[in-house]
Amino acid sequence: MSRASGDVRNLHHLRRRRQCGSPPQADAPAHAPRRRSSHQDEGEIEMTVTVEQRPPTPSGPPKLSREELLRAQRETLDTPRMDYSLLARLMFKPVDLMYGKEGSYTKFAMLEIIARVPYQAWERIGYLLVHRHAGRSALARRVFERIVEARADQDNEQWHLLILQDLVQRTGQRQSWLPHKVAPWLIAFFYYHVSWLLFLLRPDWSYRLNAEFEDHAEHEYMTFVAEHPELELVPDPGTYAAEYGRYRSVADLLRQIGHDERTHKLDSLESMREPRVR
Ligand SMILES: [Fe+2]
Ligand SMILES: [Fe+2]
Repeated sequence: MSRASGDVRNLHHLRRRRQCGSPPQADAPAHAPRRRSSHQDEGEIEMTVTVEQRPPTPSGPPKLSREELLRAQRETLDTPRMDYSLLARLMFKPVDLMYGKEGSYTKFAMLEIIARVPYQAWERIGYLLVHRHAGRSALARRVFERIVEARADQDNEQWHLLILQDLVQRTGQRQSWLPHKVAPWLIAFFYYHVSWLLFLLRPDWSYRLNAEFEDHAEHEYMTFVAEHPELELVPDPGTYAAEYGRYRSVADLLRQIGHDERTHKLDSLESMREPRVR
């Protein structure tokens, strides 16, 4: 935990360094031209649409070069895992029992199904809070910024899931109904309700639980790559290259996913410092 806290200090502004959507064109007109409808032609209504500068939309953690990916893997492997809580261990244990202690594409795909859940819970509660604080626009805006971040992290986890499912299909691994459909749904159901309940009672505990989950995922990916050097020779199939980037090998693709998990962890640890939006 102490090392993780150090990471937070070092990467305190990581959230703000994330890649953002394209900024508005500098020469774009701040005010859209007035358009007259057929009704307006009849002299009834005239509307003006004003487009202020939009806030940038986070598009996920930064994509790393090969050297950066190798360095990120070394950093992860040199960093002790967080001290996992009982709740986290209650989720990790059945996963290890069902899918094996060793990493595999099917196990990672299962973990990615669960990984989206806290972000969905936070997003849902965020909308309730926006509604509740509708009369305080500055506060509602800050809550909405958290919602936007939660959605971006959900999308990032969804890409992980799609990539892992693609690797499962390409390597011809079987996914049976009970361990790969029913069990993930049950664990996700449990995790979702724990996440929102914790968030209502102690939001810092909810963020902490997610940080532990992300720390676990980061170490699982980086360890898996270290234990499977043959993946350096397997080209990245690039199925989702347009959306996620293309890497030299499956090893680098998994390192990038591992680094994304670290980014999620650091974001949650940072949110713990100010768990309630004020
Ligand atoms: Fe993930
Ligand atoms: Fe994650």
